[in-house]
Amino acid sequence: MKVIPSAILALSLALSSYAFYLPGAAPRNYAQGEQVELFVNALTPMISGKDDAKLKSLINYDYYNPKFHFCEPNGGPVKQSESLGGILFGDRIFSSPFDIKMLESNQTCQTLCKANVDGESAKFINDRIREDYALNWLIDGLPAAEMKIDLRTGEMFFDIGFNLGNDDEPFEEMPALNNHYEIVLRYHEYAPGDYRIVGVLVWPYSIGGDQEGAATCGTENISPLVLSETQSQTVRYTYRVTWNASSTPWATRWDNYLKIADPRIHWFSLVNSIVIVVFLLIMVSMILYRSVSRDISRYNASDMSEDVQEDWGWKLVHGEVFRQPSYPLLLSIMSGNGAQLCSMVGVTLVFALLGFLSPSNRGSLATVMMVCFSFFGCIGGYVSSRVYSSLGGSNKRKNAFITATGLPTIVFMVVFLLNFFLLIANSSGAVPFGTLLVIALLWFGISAPLSAVGSYYGTKHGAVHHPVRVNPIPRQIPPSPKYLRPWSAALLSGILPFGAAFVELYFVMSSLFASKAYYAFGFVALTAGVMGITVATVSILFTYFMLCAEEYRWHWRSFLIGGGNAFWVLAYGLFYWASRLSLDSFSSVALYMGYLLLLALLDFLVTGTIGFLASYWAVRKLYSSIRID
Ligand SMILES: *[C@@H]1O[C@H](CO)[C@@H](O)[C@H](O)[C@H]1NC(C)=O
Ligand SMILES: *[C@@H]1O[C@H](CO)[C@@H](O)[C@H](O)[C@H]1NC(C)=O
Repeated sequence: MKVIPSAILALSLALSSYAFYLPGAAPRNYAQGEQVELFVNALTPMISGKDDAKLKSLINYDYYNPKFHFCEPNGGPVKQSESLGGILFGDRIFSSPFDIKMLESNQTCQTLCKANVDGESAKFINDRIREDYALNWLIDGLPAAEMKIDLRTGEMFFDIGFNLGNDDEPFEEMPALNNHYEIVLRYHEYAPGDYRIVGVLVWPYSIGGDQEGAATCGTENISPLVLSETQSQTVRYTYRVTWNASSTPWATRWDNYLKIADPRIHWFSLVNSIVIVVFLLIMVSMILYRSVSRDISRYNASDMSEDVQEDWGWKLVHGEVFRQPSYPLLLSIMSGNGAQLCSMVGVTLVFALLGFLSPSNRGSLATVMMVCFSFFGCIGGYVSSRVYSSLGGSNKRKNAFITATGLPTIVFMVVFLLNFFLLIANSSGAVPFGTLLVIALLWFGISAPLSAVGSYYGTKHGAVHHPVRVNPIPRQIPPSPKYLRPWSAALLSGILPFGAAFVELYFVMSSLFASKAYYAFGFVALTAGVMGITVATVSILFTYFMLCAEEYRWHWRSFLIGGGNAFWVLAYGLFYWASRLSLDSFSSVALYMGYLLLLALLDFLVTGTIGFLASYWAVRKLYSSIRID
């Protein structure tokens, strides 16, 4: 009985995952007076704190984009090395001219530089301020954040990034640029003379007036700095560092950043999805245990008493269910790729739950996903070739080849196309050519050969055995009820898994598009598990109904039924666009639609494969339970 409390403990630990991760990097100790480096990352659009604020752009800009005129260090900014995933998700980290030394110059006003901003650049900056762009700084791996109070719970949390400027109050209809930064660095004295940084907070201010003289950094009674779009002007950038002692130890320094704003909504969503899945499981088991076992005993009994052979329902089509579906090649390739993606998602979530994807390893999530995808090429090849053999396909080489190269090529082409839009928009988010090359190498150098190996073993193990033979002449199919037609069945059956997951989907989309930190992996993993079970049961249920209606073309339909939730995801994405985003440039819209389509496609492959393989398993079970002469 000890198992249950510890399981509950483990579960709650995993669910409060912001308090549960292995630190990614070793802690760094600073001595007094030691240089603390401040790195600058790309500027990202953010949802401002105002009521019903919307995200206005999806395009990142380099901090040192010449139009911003931010102060550069002597000798020019130095690019910092980043992980593959970090680069893909838009990290562009550079050194900066801030001169910060541990526990020194407390509260001293320091001038960074004076920049000369011309009218054209001023217009660019004002546009970015109107789009609520945020600056992203990193100190000792911690992002600079603004301290905010959650209005509902009254709890303090750190909101990553801070405003480039503000256009809250219309100063002569023009936005104000923030040119002064109050930096509060929280430190923890680990051992006498050894200090660790445990919090980075920045309050930006816009200090107008004379920009040429000596700075005072006074933040009381200041007039905002408004850039003129018609003439050149000087902007003086200043900052002031305050060192605050803190009792937060290094190990929990991320907690404030990753607080889940309101965990109740996640619990609500989880309970909701579990209710759905329990309801479904009860329904399926009722059907299986009542009607199927009754069917089987009735059939076997009537067979023995040598009555007039009378078949009904799914039994009628026993000579048809394993007839080769149309396009067996495509079906097997899609299942193979779906299985590959599915294992990638599963392993990534396990990694996340075990706490390996610490937020201080920037981009670790994407990196793990890409590496997993490459190595699971073997699973893709294996599943694809076995399904292909089982469906009676004969062109095994073609199958192996397209399984290995098809999906990566499609994804690559979409990313390439989106990259093109980013380049047009002059965004720093465009993936550099070198990185694209590394990804291509990873996929075509590791994934494709492994996929070929998988195909080899899949072919060797050959087709799965079918319990009943296929009749030489196909049966007539009676017209099936409306809800069993392919598209209506797909849409109908997609509601349940979508309903089980849409709350988490909202948070995942916010973190994808609105660069919100989201580390509630416990909830995501449980929801994904529940969704997988829902997809499998719904597909089995619909396949059973279909066979009862003497519709034996279940292969493609079960895939479509399993993947049906992708259509809802797509619709939800459009709804999210209409309600939460107000993208103002064509490039942003194209990017959003591109990523949304990609997301829906991958979701379709994963859930379709689950639906198809689950139905395959159920159909084999069903027909091996009856005796055929
Ligand atoms: C820095 O100044 C602030 C405000 O005056 C003070 O609270 C803090 O203790 C000072 N820190 C150090 C290390 O002197
Ligand atoms: C820093 O310390 C001062 C004095 O202890 C305090 O008033 C202030 O709120 C602290 N600031 C932050 C951001 O913790």
